[in-house]
Amino acid sequence: MSWAAAILTLYPEMFPGPLGLSLAGRALAEGKWSLDTVQIRDFATDRHRSVDDTPAGGGAGMVMRADVLGAAVDHALARQPRAPLLAMTPRGRPLAQDFVRELAAGPGVSILCGRFEGMDERLFEARPILPVSIGDYVLSGGETAAIVLLDACVRLLPGVMGAALSGEEESFEGGLLEYPQYTRPNIWEGRMIPEVLRSGDHAKIAAWRKARSIEDTRLRRPDLMERHGDASGRSPSGAR
Ligand code: ADE
Repeated sequence: MSWAAAILTLYPEMFPGPLGLSLAGRALAEGKWSLDTVQIRDFATDRHRSVDDTPAGGGAGMVMRADVLGAAVDHALARQPRAPLLAMTPRGRPLAQDFVRELAAGPGVSILCGRFEGMDERLFEARPILPVSIGDYVLSGGETAAIVLLDACVRLLPGVMGAALSGEEESFEGGLLEYPQYTRPNIWEGRMIPEVLRSGDHAKIAAWRKARSIEDTRLRRPDLMERHGDASGRSPSGAR
């Protein structure tokens, strides 16, 4: 059985979206992964089919109802009991490559996409749901966040990346940003590709790349550098 994604959403039309194109789209067409959507509104019980209500305690916007979401989640858990159930929310655990790798190595994933001001918190107490955020900004809904997460997972599935080096030297492997890349022409607008990359000396090239990885990570992502610590050859405090 292939890696299976199930999306619980009020907007199933948003899928596969960009996941139907390019690398992920080809893999989907080839059956290397599958994508199912579940319409949350199908689990509404009143005659207006309402999925949300005003926030307890007052305030702006609407909150997704625990009873409706609970029924949708139970449906997903029954269909794919072995897949982790995630909920996309800016209140979640920050998504990072190590977790993406874990998810890609498993049977698949079920993803609950929130809309409005949020989801009734009791849902997270009553069901085994892992809240996940893709960054410190607020999207209009969890659907685009789910697409980001799925894209990151699907490219790691067996046979999806084809001839490309299967991720061993890319950003975040080893806790650093990837080294910079260049290709022909050798001179563009008076700028040359670094001489070392054209030297054919593989040990020298590897050393240059490692040094640039560390240097760029230190400049752009000092937060990663602190975690990287001694592996960079310097102590975390020396990195600053
Ligand atoms: N929904 C709204 N904003 C989000 C974010 N930053 N990450 C995940 N889901 C979200």
